[in-house]
Amino acid sequence: MTNLVAPGVHRQPVSVTRKMSASLPRLRAIAREKGLKIHHLGAGYPHPEVTDPRGFLAQEAAYLEHLTALERRNDPEALPEHLREAFSYGDTLGPASTRQIFARVYGNDWGVGMRPDRLVPTVGATGGISLVCSLFEHAGTPIAYLTDAPTYAGFMARANLCRHASIYSVEMDEEGPLPDVFERQIRAAREAGRLVPFYYTVPDGHNPAGFSFSEARRRQILDIARREQILIVEDAPYLYINFASPGDRQPPFLSLDPAQTVHLFTGSKIGFPGPRVAYVYSEAELTIADGQTASLAELALVQASADILFPNPAAYRGFETLLHEADFSERKSLWPVAESKLEIYRENRQILLDGFEAELGAHRDRFHWTVPAAGFFSVFTFLGGRVRTDDRFIEQMVADYGLVVIPMYDFYPPDARKRNPDAGYDQLRISFCFSESAGEERRRDLTEAVAVFCRAAKRLSGVA
Ligand SMILES: Cc1ncc(COP(=O)(O)O)c(C=O)c1O
Repeated sequence: MTNLVAPGVHRQPVSVTRKMSASLPRLRAIAREKGLKIHHLGAGYPHPEVTDPRGFLAQEAAYLEHLTALERRNDPEALPEHLREAFSYGDTLGPASTRQIFARVYGNDWGVGMRPDRLVPTVGATGGISLVCSLFEHAGTPIAYLTDAPTYAGFMARANLCRHASIYSVEMDEEGPLPDVFERQIRAAREAGRLVPFYYTVPDGHNPAGFSFSEARRRQILDIARREQILIVEDAPYLYINFASPGDRQPPFLSLDPAQTVHLFTGSKIGFPGPRVAYVYSEAELTIADGQTASLAELALVQASADILFPNPAAYRGFETLLHEADFSERKSLWPVAESKLEIYRENRQILLDGFEAELGAHRDRFHWTVPAAGFFSVFTFLGGRVRTDDRFIEQMVADYGLVVIPMYDFYPPDARKRNPDAGYDQLRISFCFSESAGEERRRDLTEAVAVFCRAAKRLSGVA
């Protein structure tokens, strides 16, 4: 033990998902003792069937070999540039080629002429969240972070680290955040003397709310953000984990206005989470101290050079593999890459929705579930106030049914829980992304999990 006195240091609250994973082994043991099978409807991880890296590794080796062969045309003995780069101190922006190619492919998918020099690498989207928060926290002025109620737990965890920041949250309906509450919260924060730098959201496949914002609502929110001069931080991990037909997909804020948006791209879901490849992209210009202007990308670059110095060059070069076809020509789009993952998630989502409909469709007065157009989650609501989805309920689901589900209440920021102390206590976040099995067994396991869940839901709410 040290005798360090750390008066400014506070213990951070532990999220319910962390508490859940800590208590899971004990609950699993209880369930197993009763002979119950464990059903995963809680974890938000990519499915093991789409994260087996072996195919990718072979493709990556071939791509790097291809780059080596190109260089050796001039000098057969030369140390290949990608190899030299991979083991050297690099640029804070990461390998230039990855940014240039990514800007073309991603820009083509989303109709934006992306500037490679404005792509700032981050350690996952998690690093992107932290980077944008850090930019505005330095000034030391009280800050209001605008976000949804409920919102992503990782964002709340990051926002909580700053003692002079408070979350001002905005309730949502089935189209997205409520515009009048959005405006009211900006006003309230400013009246309290707070700087309101941005609104953080996950418009596609919202985690944890389990739906995507309508285009009309996106435009309304964007109009307000422009008028009020606040940025929209668009966390977009599920942009390609999209179940809508191409014509029905909503445009991300990036497409609607890249100068008002800070877009967080991550390779975690379309590629792999392990390499931590991600970018912040924004065309925003800010007025900073002394009335000077600076691009957000420029400010982010300075911050990133202190935070991470430079990203792992090999991980970014490896990511380039996904931006190329098997013959090493540059892709036009990332959608074909997404398709291999989508096959699994599309199937899982259908199993979940079909199961709900078959078992609970006759009881729509008692149960509601979102139909996600993207992402990993559906939010399940017990209507009529008979069920309280608190920690005891969650523990009971594991111990009595072997069901691992996540309660929603902890995803509501403190101000939302003050406005409505019952917020989220009738809801669960049901995920359809993860199971331990593959192929036919995966289908069977998920079908069984959904059936067990529906049976439990009916029993616990007194239906049947
Ligand atoms: C909304 C959201 N943001 C960020 C992340 C984390 O992404 P990354 O692995 O890129 O840090 C997740 C992962 O589940 C997420 O759902």
